[in-house]
Parts: sequence; structure tokens; C-alpha cells
Amino acid sequence: MENQNQNLRTMISETPQKTGQKVRLCGWVQTVRSHGKIIFFDLRDRSGVIQTVIIPKMPFFEQAKEVRSEWVVELTGTVNERPANMVNDKIETGKVELFVEGLKVLSKAQTLPFSIEGDGYDIGEDHRLKYRYLDLRRKRLHDSLIFRGKVNGYIRDFFSKENFVEVETPYISRSTPEGARDYLVPSRMDQGKFFALPQSPQQYKQLLMVAGLERYYQIARCFRDEDTRGDRQPEFTQLDLEMSFVEQEEVMQLTEKMLIGLIKATAPGKKIQAIPFPRLTYAEAQQKYGTDRPDLREDKNDPDLLAPCWVVDFPFFEKDKDGGWTFTHNPFSAPKPEFDGDLAFGNNISEIVAAQYDIVLNGWEIGGGSIRNHRREVLEKVLEIIGVKNIKENFGHMLEAFSFGVPPHGGIAFGLDRLLMILQNEPNIRETIAFPKTGDGRDLMMEAPSEVSAEQLNELGLAIVKKPAAN
Ligand code: AMO
Repeated sequence: MENQNQNLRTMISETPQKTGQKVRLCGWVQTVRSHGKIIFFDLRDRSGVIQTVIIPKMPFFEQAKEVRSEWVVELTGTVNERPANMVNDKIETGKVELFVEGLKVLSKAQTLPFSIEGDGYDIGEDHRLKYRYLDLRRKRLHDSLIFRGKVNGYIRDFFSKENFVEVETPYISRSTPEGARDYLVPSRMDQGKFFALPQSPQQYKQLLMVAGLERYYQIARCFRDEDTRGDRQPEFTQLDLEMSFVEQEEVMQLTEKMLIGLIKATAPGKKIQAIPFPRLTYAEAQQKYGTDRPDLREDKNDPDLLAPCWVVDFPFFEKDKDGGWTFTHNPFSAPKPEFDGDLAFGNNISEIVAAQYDIVLNGWEIGGGSIRNHRREVLEKVLEIIGVKNIKENFGHMLEAFSFGVPPHGGIAFGLDRLLMILQNEPNIRETIAFPKTGDGRDLMMEAPSEVSAEQLNELGLAIVKKPAAN
């Protein structure tokens, strides 16, 4: 038994509990220092960093002299308490060090293209993104990934306790006019036809309500081919949910409870300015703050202050750039009941208010949702007002589904990356995503998008037509 335990790898964070014991540690050599004749490695694994000591008497001492930072090594040895004057309060293992009795080099590393110490904000982002796997070794980003995992864990736990079912909806689907531009995927089997990557699981989650699931959630990837910004990525993650037989109030209260619980559990250092979250109508927000996403923080210098609020009562329609009507949020929203008549007759279109709510945090829109229009004829009217051509072709499947017994339903989606950005005081959502795209929508590490072979194009029945160069 004893022998077997000795063979198990010890995580660096466990070493303070193992003084006097023999352990085997694996990880990256963060720094190499020589003091007189003694060599020190700071060894790093996912759990922390420990000082390790190699004395000249050791048979592997010459080999140890060759070791450079970021080499991957296995060290065996004894965990010793450090003398009182050598204790380092800055690290969790600062009271101990490893007296190295065995060294095995598992792999060597060439000099890294940039330093992974510090927060890295001063390094050109393109450079960091090209070597993202190295940038992710940096403590700030490493902690950010761990934090994201914890948030996902909290979400799953919360919704499963509330009797929601996690359902994965397709990523290869149909192009629908929903707001942004679609990413298209050519079909090989059906040449000349295309799938689209979903801008959100909106239609599927509504169809799950028709299916009788009643409470759905998903941590879902969404794809929108739009210009990237600090708070926008072409590929981003939503916490998406939908509920049947609910009113606006129930969706808002449940998600408010989730958000408060999530902040308390994962970011306890943060202070929520007001609970319950203040609510403003769209008109009030515009009038008072000149925006539909006001930053209500009383003290904007406090990095740990969170001021969430709801913005409700959005106009259903707005004029588009060609002078026609378009939806402000989502064509599937219901009007507030008092506007039923106006919608049915197409009267006072600009005055119609949608049963729609946004959640705003410190000036960022972190989520939005609505009670849906489950009445087929009202939905048809909306599509008619916004001038959707080929209603049957584009939305026939939804209209048909709604003819088979559809429960009243509604939901919301949070932009998870934006929420994480605020909770971690990051300046943009790229810092919260493991492998984000650049500002101009490219993946510098994988060099995507890229050209594909003539054979691949052929199989898809596609030919590239180069645009004539602009004069
Ligand atoms: P909406 O389009 O408002 O609603 O999206 C919901 C939330 O997702 C976040 N978000 C983004 N985050 C990063 N990059 C992007 N490109 C991006 N676009 C949106 C925002 C936003 O509030 N299906 C509806 C939701 C519903 O009605 O239930 C929807 O997608 O934080």
C-alpha cells in the first residue's frame, strides 16, 4: 500500500500537508535560479507553484544545470519545512520546499515567444492569440478558465435543482432571418443547399416547449457573422432557457435568483448594489440615461460593485434603414396583452410594446428574453408586418408546430461571456474565452479561415469566384 501511494503523483497544492514525506511532482519549470552551488526550480502544475532545491551532491546535478524554464519535468523528493526566515507568504506553498532526490526530464521547451508571468496586457494581443496555448499558461487566464468552469457548474446545479432539463440543440441547422448574418455550411449531399449555424437556439427551444418539456436550459454556443467588438464574438456562449405556462414575472424572478446565487457562490468578493434588481421601462431608461443599458453603479470606481437592473416594455417594432418595420428583439415575442388588438389590426405599430425584458449589468446588456407569441395567427401577423417574404418557406415549420397544441411559453438567454467579463473585471470578452477570435474574426493560432482544397470544393459543388480588385 505504502509503495503504491508513493507512486501516485502529488499535486503541488497538497505539499504543505505532506512535510517530511516523499512525493512525486510533475509540471513545468517556471524559473531556474542558481544560488552559489545550489539550483532552485520553481515548479508549476495546475494547482500551484513550489520551490524545489537541488544540491551539487545529487547524481543528476549536471543534468539539472541544463534545465530551462518551461521544460516539463518529474521531480521526486522530500517535502521539507522552510526555515522561518525563508518563508514566502506570497505563495500557498511558501512554508515548504521540495528537496529533490530524482529528476526526469519529460520534455524540453524552446524559449517562449513572450513572458507568461504577469497579466500580459502589455503584450500585443495578436501575438498572445497566435500562441494562445502558451498565453493560457499565464495565471490570470488559467484562473479565468477555472472560474468559467465553476460558473458552468453552478448553472447546471441550479437548473437541475429547479427541475430544468439540459438539452443540446443542433449546431447545423437552417438559415432563418433572425437579426445578424448567418454562418453558412454547404451541404455535400444536397449540392447548392446550405445549412446555417444557429444564431441562438431560439426556435429549437420553442419547439421543445411544443414537445412538452416545459423547462429547458442549455449552455449553448451561438454563431453570428457580425462585426466583432470587445463585447461581441462571432462565436459566443449563451445560458439559454425556456419555460412553459409562465408569465414574464416568473422568468424574471427565477433568473434573478439564479444570478444572485451565482455571484454569491462564485464571486463572493462582489457586492450587489440593490436586491431585488431595480426595474426600468425602456422609455424611462432612454429618458433618464439616454440608453437602454444604463450603468446604475453609485460608485463607478469600485471594481467590485455590481448594479444589475431589468429593462422592460420594449417597443415591438422599429423602422429599419429602408423605412419598413423590423422587430427590435425577436420576431417570436408576444405583444403585452393590452396591445393584442393593435397588433391584430396592424394599428399604431410604433406604439406596440413587447413582453420583452433585458437584464443589464454595469452598463452591459448581459441577457434578454421575452414571453413568446404562441398564437399562430398573431405570429403570422408579426411576420407580415416586418415583411418577411416567403413566410411559409422560412417559418412554416414553426407555424405548423404551433398548430399542434402549443403551451404559452417564454424564456431568456444570458450572454455568458459578458457576465464572466464583468465578474472578472476583464476589459473584453476575449479574455474569458479559451480560444477567441481576433477583432476581425480570425483564429490566428489555427490560421482560420483558410483556403480548402480543390477536391473539397468539388465535392461540395462549389467554385470560388474572386471579386475583381477594387480600384
Ligand atoms: P439576444 O440576441 O439578445 O437574444 O442574445 C442574448 C444575449 O447574448 C449576448 N450576445 C452576445 N455575446 C457575445 N457576442 C455576441 N455576438 C453576442 N450577441 C448577443 C448578449 C445578449 O443579451 N434567443 C434570444 C434570447 C431569448 O429571447 O430567449 C437571443 O439570442 O448578452
